[in-house]
Amino acid sequence: MADASAPIASALARATAAGCPPHLGLMHLLMAAPSEAAARDALRDAVAAQPDEAARTRLAAVERCWAERPHAWSTIHDVLAQARHDAHALSPQAAVAEWAGVFDSLAASAPDAGVALYGLGDPALTAQVSRELVDALQRWGALRANAIVLDFGCGVGRLSALIAPRCRRLLGLDVSAGMVAEARRRCAALPNAAFAQANGRDLEGVANASIDLALAVDVFPYLVQAGGDLAPRMVDELARTLAPGGRLVLANLSYRGDDARDAHDLAAWATAAGLTLDGEPDRPFTLWDGLVFRLRKA
Ligand SMILES: C[S@@+](CC[C@H](N)C(=O)[O-])C[C@H]1O[C@@H](n2cnc3c(N)ncnc32)[C@H](O)[C@@H]1O
Repeated sequence: MADASAPIASALARATAAGCPPHLGLMHLLMAAPSEAAARDALRDAVAAQPDEAARTRLAAVERCWAERPHAWSTIHDVLAQARHDAHALSPQAAVAEWAGVFDSLAASAPDAGVALYGLGDPALTAQVSRELVDALQRWGALRANAIVLDFGCGVGRLSALIAPRCRRLLGLDVSAGMVAEARRRCAALPNAAFAQANGRDLEGVANASIDLALAVDVFPYLVQAGGDLAPRMVDELARTLAPGGRLVLANLSYRGDDARDAHDLAAWATAAGLTLDGEPDRPFTLWDGLVFRLRKA
């Protein structure tokens, strides 16, 4: 029988590490544990046994984070039960259709946790994480007041809603009609934001060289998992739609757990598409551990 304690120990080690915010530590623990009781017992025992005061303080913060969000276990496991990242469809085409269906149902049942599990279904926490990301786009010079922005795989529009007030025009595309409807609802007061359902295979309808900043946050993992040449083809498409000097910020290429492989694959696809990487991929945020690739069209 598999040892359930090894994944829990590894999640607790992550939660104990300096720099890991409590909500991420909690998410990893809840994902690793076989039951809510096992997670609770393991966390309580880890706090009690931790000799290092700073590490103990971090674990106690995870406990507090959970106490403030008592539904965190069911929130996370309800989403994971629908969004099976280890599932394999018969073809890339079938996978795209399957994910569209999964995200349609998440848009209805768990709109916040469905797009950003690390927010634990708490809209205030999710908004805090989103703000850090959008502030960074501005700091990097990628988001400007006169920019036309494409939010590819926009989900419920949590990022679009923060970006639209800081740019000229925003287009959100998503393969899920449910997500597009929810993004429209959330951004109804933003006249420069528009949303449309994408076909999931390309960026049909988006003109060549029309976009200054393209954003792809946690969407490529679904393309990579779908297989075939879907992911490199979408990098090509994003490059096609970028204006000269335009930027692509891509957060998380896959959930394969292999940063080197992701960096290798994206470098090859980007070069073929005429994009260059601005520096090495990194994890630049304090509230989220997404692996960020910054690219630019010549
Ligand atoms: C984890 S959510 C992230 C949403 C949003 N980027 C965010 O960070 O809040 C992934 C989104 O990608 C969309 N998606 C998945 N495959 C797609 C595809 N082939 N084309 C367009 N969108 C896709 C899903 O419908 C879902 O809304």
